[in-house]
Amino acid sequence: MTDKTSYRGPARVFSGIQPTGNLHLGNYLGALKKFVDLQEGGWDGLYCVVDLHAITQPYEVSDLPEQTRQIAAAMLASGLSPEKSTIFVQSSVPAHVELAWIFNCVARMGWVEKMTQFKDKGGENSERVSLGLLAYPVLQAADILAYRATHVPVGEDQKQHLELSRNIASRFNQQFDAPGFFPEPEALIKGPGARIMSLKDGTKKMSKSDPSDLSRINLIDDADTIARKIKKAKTDLLGDMPVDVAGLEGRPEVENLVSIFGALSGQTAEQVLDEFGGKGFGAFKPALADVAVAHLAPITEAMRRYMADPGEIDRLLAAGANKAQAASEPVMKEVRKILGFWHAG
Ligand code: TYM
Repeated sequence: MTDKTSYRGPARVFSGIQPTGNLHLGNYLGALKKFVDLQEGGWDGLYCVVDLHAITQPYEVSDLPEQTRQIAAAMLASGLSPEKSTIFVQSSVPAHVELAWIFNCVARMGWVEKMTQFKDKGGENSERVSLGLLAYPVLQAADILAYRATHVPVGEDQKQHLELSRNIASRFNQQFDAPGFFPEPEALIKGPGARIMSLKDGTKKMSKSDPSDLSRINLIDDADTIARKIKKAKTDLLGDMPVDVAGLEGRPEVENLVSIFGALSGQTAEQVLDEFGGKGFGAFKPALADVAVAHLAPITEAMRRYMADPGEIDRLLAAGANKAQAASEPVMKEVRKILGFWHAG
């Protein structure tokens, strides 16, 4: 759909991860692995540790620097390269906050109040949560659009936020008579890792905030811990592994384990079931643990190496911030002009 009102700039990827708690297999398969695949496919990409998002809810101030470095370490350990991609921390580039404020004046209250993540996190208590939590997805739109990014690799849970980013881009372009100024960013969600579920409940997504550590595989777990968690993963009482994909219907825990196997080994669910269909979990779970350990162990090890050298991480993040600043400034100059700010320069 390219008409004269569409964005015509270059393709660019942006994504972010919050420095809140341990990264897990869902973050890896839904986000980090996709970032690396896109980088290796030659995409220009910016990957951001979104600390401004992390402060929208109560957090431990003294933990934030270490958690910020840990996300950067995971990005590097997964294979993102500071030469090929831009890896940086959100609060080190002022454009995010500036554009977020501008978008606060473009987005409608009704749009943000509809966000299911706000309703989930705010719960019954929406009067008492921070205004920042409501504005969270508006900041997310600013993250993406400060670089006029066109593609955003994320897990399924971010779909609604990306829809909001598209609405904000389109409304800005219309309201300020700037056709095609901002792209309407496309979410890259598809793929077997888009929605990894809890190992304890196949109807709940794997999450950093789940109180049970057995519900998730953390990127810093060692081989024994991974094997133990997979062994203890919930299955069901409906018998052995189904022989085909249709047999996964109504078996969310088994479906989740099959999709984790597939995502880690690069196979479809059909291929996984060709091998394991009809077999017991006593055969499947150890094989899954082997695949998970083989894939994750080198990443965990590299992450530990980076974490042991915080000075190096800080140096890489400072260089990334300079690159991101240089990429955002020309966009922000135009934005200020479009808005009529006298210092647009
Ligand atoms: P965050 O930090 O919660 O999660 C980081 C990424 O991991 C994905 N993810 C999952 N994918 C599959 N299965 C799961 N169980 C699972 N859990 C998490 C998330 O979809 C996400 O891609 N709002 C974002 C951070 C953000 C952002 C942005 C993303 C801020 N600005 C701009 C993209 C573009 C978030 O909370 O991610």
